[in-house]
Amino acid sequence: MRLISARSLAIAAVAGLTALPTASAWGAAGHEIVATIAQIHLHPTVLAEVCEILYPGSSLVSTDAGPPCYISRVATWADQVRRQPQYRHTASWHYIGAVEDHPSQTCVFPGTRGWAGKTDVNVLGAVRNMTTVLEDYTMGTADSSQAEEAMKFLIHFMGDMHMPLHLTGRERGGNGVRVTFDGRVTNLHSLWDGLLIAQALRTIPRNYTQALPAGKSALDIESHLRGTIYDPYVRRLMYEGFGNDLILGRFSSEYADWLACPAIEEQSIWSSMQTRLGLQRTQDETRWDDDALCPYAWAKELHKLNCELPAWPREIDEPQHIHAAMASSSHEELHTEDEFLDSYQYGRRPLPHPDLVELDTPEYAGRIRSQWVVERLLAMAGIRLAGLLNGLFLDVESLNATSESGEYTILPLW
Ligand SMILES: *[C@@H]1O[C@H](CO)[C@@H](O)[C@H](O)[C@H]1NC(C)=O
Ligand SMILES: *[C@@H]1O[C@H](CO)[C@@H](O)[C@H](O)[C@H]1NC(C)=O
Ligand SMILES: *[C@@H]1O[C@H](CO)[C@@H](O)[C@H](O)[C@H]1NC(C)=O
Repeated sequence: MRLISARSLAIAAVAGLTALPTASAWGAAGHEIVATIAQIHLHPTVLAEVCEILYPGSSLVSTDAGPPCYISRVATWADQVRRQPQYRHTASWHYIGAVEDHPSQTCVFPGTRGWAGKTDVNVLGAVRNMTTVLEDYTMGTADSSQAEEAMKFLIHFMGDMHMPLHLTGRERGGNGVRVTFDGRVTNLHSLWDGLLIAQALRTIPRNYTQALPAGKSALDIESHLRGTIYDPYVRRLMYEGFGNDLILGRFSSEYADWLACPAIEEQSIWSSMQTRLGLQRTQDETRWDDDALCPYAWAKELHKLNCELPAWPREIDEPQHIHAAMASSSHEELHTEDEFLDSYQYGRRPLPHPDLVELDTPEYAGRIRSQWVVERLLAMAGIRLAGLLNGLFLDVESLNATSESGEYTILPLW
């Protein structure tokens, strides 16, 4: 990971690609956590089908007791290929940014001048298009290799879409903003990518290093964990986040709503009003969304975190910090997730960096931790991915369920 990040920063510096985020959203752990949470919420028949698409021929013959596959294994594939010639056109599928968006002062999604970059070639268009390919596959009009690729992209982009800095183009989604975290120089994007998660991993109560007590949750969690460093994080998120028969979780009262989309009728009325007023937002409201999958409506809410949390610290734009924050980072050794963990282990002391904004503070990282901001985003992405896949692949007719077929998108909560 360290090499990849360092190299991509170097490429960006050399090529002067100021408009493109270079690091991946969430780093490896974040994406794999999203995929794991999704997998836990997939109907078993849907998981089997997803595995068959990802690992044709091999998945279902597995004879051991575990799940047919772990979808987290493909969660970072989209980042791994994005610099290969045949996938270079997918680089901009990982993010979106509105032209006048400038957090933390101004958050627009989009503003009056629309989106930066090519229309529709962004993370929202990618989520929509990959879903369409998978729908086509279920109808027999897309082949299995198209479905495999679309599945891998979709698993990744649902994660990217829930990383607030992937929804703004300012300073390449924060890649160009130097900050310190516990005295170590990093950038805002990397902080959200990995360091906040890495910090949470180090401070998880010890009881989550073991399997959760059996019978306290309707969902099977353990069999979907594959012995990674973030297993305790997933256990805690599931237990304290979603709750169980005995305890209420932090998300218990809200997570059913995560799958909701604004009613299309309302949207059209709104859109036609906008059209009559001569505003250019009509297509943005409707291009990517329908009543079961609405990446635009979801992203619009998530994007607000950039100004409201604010994920973009206001201090960065203060006169005493702005110059240091935006200074070229090409000669600076930026701390990645792995390196950060190493330096903790060996007790290296950070160098003081008085001009940069320190973000391991009670007001910034402390608030994100105590409000479970990152955990909620990862859980939301996982639930939405599960809901989408259940909706696509669950054979509603064959289900012994009383719910009407129109409700099948909430089946991850079965
Ligand atoms: C999605 O599909 C539309 C229509 O074919 C296309 O114009 C757009 O570039 C695609 N976007 C992505 C990100 O694949
Ligand atoms: C683990 O410990 C934490 C605090 O120490 C507690 O809040 C939580 O309920 C425990 N979780 C389980 C599964 O026992
Ligand atoms: C649904 O399941 C119940 C119990 O498992 C069974 O008695 C019933 O016949 C099933 N109904 C249908 C329509 O399959």
